[in-house]
Amino acid sequence: MSTTITIQPHLALERILSLEIVRVTERAAVAAAMLRGHGNEMAADQAAVDAMRRELNKLPIEGTVVIGEGERDEAPMLFIGETVGTQTGPKVDIAVDPLEGTTLCAKNMPGAIATMAMAESGTLLNAPDVYMEKIAIGPGYPAGVVDLDDPADVSIRKLAKAKDVKPAEITALILERPRHADMIAAVRKTGAAVRLITDGDVAGVIHCADPATTGIDIYMGIGGAPEGVLAAAALRCIGGQMQCRLVLDSEEKRDRATKMGIKDPRKKYQIEDMVKGDCLFAATGVTDGSLLRGVRFRKDLIQTETVVMRSVTGTVRWIRADHRQLDKFYLD
Ligand code: FBP
Repeated sequence: MSTTITIQPHLALERILSLEIVRVTERAAVAAAMLRGHGNEMAADQAAVDAMRRELNKLPIEGTVVIGEGERDEAPMLFIGETVGTQTGPKVDIAVDPLEGTTLCAKNMPGAIATMAMAESGTLLNAPDVYMEKIAIGPGYPAGVVDLDDPADVSIRKLAKAKDVKPAEITALILERPRHADMIAAVRKTGAAVRLITDGDVAGVIHCADPATTGIDIYMGIGGAPEGVLAAAALRCIGGQMQCRLVLDSEEKRDRATKMGIKDPRKKYQIEDMVKGDCLFAATGVTDGSLLRGVRFRKDLIQTETVVMRSVTGTVRWIRADHRQLDKFYLD
């Protein structure tokens, strides 16, 4: 007996795109990795941007960058509003961070990645490049266990109760910044541990999705809003909870946000507000990190490691690639 499976064209395309976006982050990661440790953040970022843009423009999509390198007048490419793709396929929103952790790459420190997300047009939050308050936990907890408006120690206690462990068994991941000093002290006072990172909170949030492997139960603190939307796309695929709020602490920032369609400057965003429909997410390691291995340059090949996720199915693929035709890899 033979079974005929009919796949709707847009779904088939989306499946193909989930592999195509791997090429995009792979090439951005390799371009950045060539400048690892050179101490030049701008050059590494530019290399990643150029490579990512080149690859995005090969995709059969009508893409619009909604999270990018900055607003039009401050970013020459991959700026918010830029159209990418061959303009032949589905209309999609694109969120990019060609080099997340520019300082990590420039200093050749762990955790730099190249990352992007893609979703149906009009479904990704158009966030200005400002700070964002964030709290995130992994899957398997009842909705609303943690709340962005709770003090840090309350969040730790609530999470520990939901996990049925003592606060001392909880580990929080927090960006090491002076603005987080009180939060770090409050978390430690509960007996919980803090793992500090110097940069890279997209990967930081993703760590919460698998505490058994990463040892991280909760991400909290203030980071970039673009990184917040990218992290929300990843959690939309793998599960978990996240709440965020834009930090619009000046008239100028509120104006920019209003121009981008933000009506309520104090809105508390849930994942579904930042990523309203199904999405794809990919990240490739630039430097070695606890999430992804960095790019390896061997004599005759380049090795990359990428994680790619698709929210429709919740599939998470870890792709280790050996790229052999090196001339093609750079020039193609
Ligand atoms: P860049 O790659 O743009 O430098 O961002 C790195 C990062 O650590 C993000 O992961 C994080 O959201 C943001 O910077 C935090 O901003 P700041 O360094 O200003 O505290």
